[in-house]
Amino acid sequence: MPLTYSSYLQLPGLLELQRPRSTPPEHDEMLFIVIHQVFELWFTLVLHEADKVKGDFSANDLYAAIPTWKRLRTILKTLVGQLDILETMTPLSFASFRDRLDTASGFQSFQFREIEFVFGYKRAQVTRYVPEQAGQRTAAERRLGERSVVDHFYDFLAQRGVAVPAELLSKEVTEPTQPSEALQDELLRVYQQQPELVILFELMTDFDEGFQEWRYRHIKLVERTIGAKRGTGGSPGVEFLKQSLWKPLFPDLWAIRHRM
Ligand code: HEM
Repeated sequence: MPLTYSSYLQLPGLLELQRPRSTPPEHDEMLFIVIHQVFELWFTLVLHEADKVKGDFSANDLYAAIPTWKRLRTILKTLVGQLDILETMTPLSFASFRDRLDTASGFQSFQFREIEFVFGYKRAQVTRYVPEQAGQRTAAERRLGERSVVDHFYDFLAQRGVAVPAELLSKEVTEPTQPSEALQDELLRVYQQQPELVILFELMTDFDEGFQEWRYRHIKLVERTIGAKRGTGGSPGVEFLKQSLWKPLFPDLWAIRHRM
């Protein structure tokens, strides 16, 4: 049998994976499952692209990095748009099957934690909420201990003649990205003198904005669907999620704008 569309994509297995738990079946549970699965597939791609861009940065390959950042920002914008579909589900409809989720929650998404960590938003304490299931917590912890995209960005900048402060180059890998005034001064100079890098910086800013938009839209989705209820993952819900709101992944790229 020659390779077919179905066998290449392993469709029989993939399309077996949508299994609502409500009995009798609640219509909207299918939407809830499909949208989360689709998000997880996009998360896989985001991680795949992030690993590539790390290599591009360390190899000082600007023209390889640019299309990858374009792809990354487009995925993020798409993810934000897809939340509209889930918002067609009413709070009543969600309440009809929410108890079937038990303690399951996006809070436990190991790929989301990997994404936060790979882009430098590191917070070790959240890994304990990732279940020790099929190596998922280990995957999140591994990312925590790896150099982030931002660390590789510093390598790239150094190769482009930017004086990256020594404390940034030697920081602990498990620590989150910290803004640096000394780096901001340098970035400002690059903005004026190296226009090809401006393209890169703006794409990274697009991605960062997309990530922050995702957080904002997810919070609004949660607010309109469950209000002030606690999350199924056991956090206080909206109040927990707000802690990460408006926190950029690349703070230095935002901090210099009023100086231009
Ligand atoms: C009706 C829809 C949704 C509701 C009511 C909801 C609710 C929540 C709540 C309350 C939390 C806080 C943690 C906890 O459970 O205690 C949370 C976290 C999270 N949710 Fe959702 N969510 C929804 C849809 C989604 C979708 C479609 C995704 C896509 C994968 C998602 C991904 C996440 C992630 C990654 C977190 C962790 C965020 C962080 O730690 O900053 N959620 N969600």
